[in-house]
Amino acid sequence: MTAGFHIRTHPDVRNIPYGDRKRIIDATRGKTDLANIASGNPDLPMPPFVVERVAAALGSGYVPYTSYYGFPELRAKLAQALLAERHLLADPETELLVTLGIQEGLYLVMRAILHPGDEVLLPSPHYAEYFLNAVATGSTPVLVPLDEKSGWVPDIDRLRKAITPRTRALVFSNPNNPLGVVWPRAILEELAELAIAHDLVVLVDEIYHDFMYTERPPSIGSLPGMKERTFTFGGFSKSHMMMGMRMGYVLGPAEPMFFVKNLHYCVALCPPYLGQVAALAALDCPREQLAPIYQEYGERLEMLYNGITAIPGITCVRPQGSFYIFPDISCFGMSAMDLALDLIDRAGVVTLPGTEFGPYGEGHFRLAVCTPRTELAKGIERFAQYASDFARRKEDRQS
Ligand SMILES: Cc1ncc(COP(=O)(O)O)c(C=O)c1O
Repeated sequence: MTAGFHIRTHPDVRNIPYGDRKRIIDATRGKTDLANIASGNPDLPMPPFVVERVAAALGSGYVPYTSYYGFPELRAKLAQALLAERHLLADPETELLVTLGIQEGLYLVMRAILHPGDEVLLPSPHYAEYFLNAVATGSTPVLVPLDEKSGWVPDIDRLRKAITPRTRALVFSNPNNPLGVVWPRAILEELAELAIAHDLVVLVDEIYHDFMYTERPPSIGSLPGMKERTFTFGGFSKSHMMMGMRMGYVLGPAEPMFFVKNLHYCVALCPPYLGQVAALAALDCPREQLAPIYQEYGERLEMLYNGITAIPGITCVRPQGSFYIFPDISCFGMSAMDLALDLIDRAGVVTLPGTEFGPYGEGHFRLAVCTPRTELAKGIERFAQYASDFARRKEDRQS
């Protein structure tokens, strides 16, 4: 009998939150002439060098399963690049895994190392996925607020106070999504010291490694005593405009990586063939095809920052990396979600409430530079017009 049959889904999976990003997407459905200054999905195409290699591979018509853990030559090249660019030592056989984007790697590692009831420290606002994975694995995300006044860098004493005997891991991205800042060497050294003193595992997401517009800090896994406790996540989605290729990787200590790799086999069997062709090409891509991409996004970031901070009442920490700014919009006196919905309705601008990145994101928007300059300019202009109309309406109400 099937009527009334109920499939019981696991509570940890049911508890994964839906997210404000999806509410905004729902609110834009059916609307036209929108200027989107929220999307983190970059608009530029892959470099021609990568496109040509993929097209040639596709021409053969042959797309086989590959090594479960990624082409051996891809892992070997990745190991060379990680050493040359980030001073990270990686054994391609035992410590590196190619994943379906960083997103798969994050899930695998958190699933493999976290036990129900473990606590995971998230300096927050944080990239939502870290929270979702903690929930999905039955562990407890512990949000430790970051302070805008100190440029969104973590207060180490505040983090230390949040540590309990159940704390297992610290997760963050550098450069930071959503905050647009880059944590410098001194902070990373303090975080490393804290992790060593309290036996924490560190998960660092370096997806925006190529988008830094300030002094480059070290990768935390390269600091003394950190290799054995650090998982470093990297990927090609942003650095080579390869979002839909779903190519990422994770470097971690051999013993837990054995189990992470086994879990990856359950989830993906192997990474996609064409994605790996693209990733191999990406690692050989001439610098002249990449530098203009990084420059373009850097210039747009400056344009977005200048445009948004010119709106009376809005303040913002100057961005140093990634695609994002995280302006304080509390001057409007409403929740970030209400303001975002009103901006869609009245002005045709799509923004993302900071609450997508946890409750400490309230009073903020996360804005991005992944749309062409003309759309970005339109979004900024419409936002500015909305702000001036808003101020006039307020004055009218008061008089
Ligand atoms: C901080 C961060 N990590 C991971 C991802 C997802 O990366 P991937 O496409 O490699 O799965 C994103 C995408 O926006 C991101 O911003």
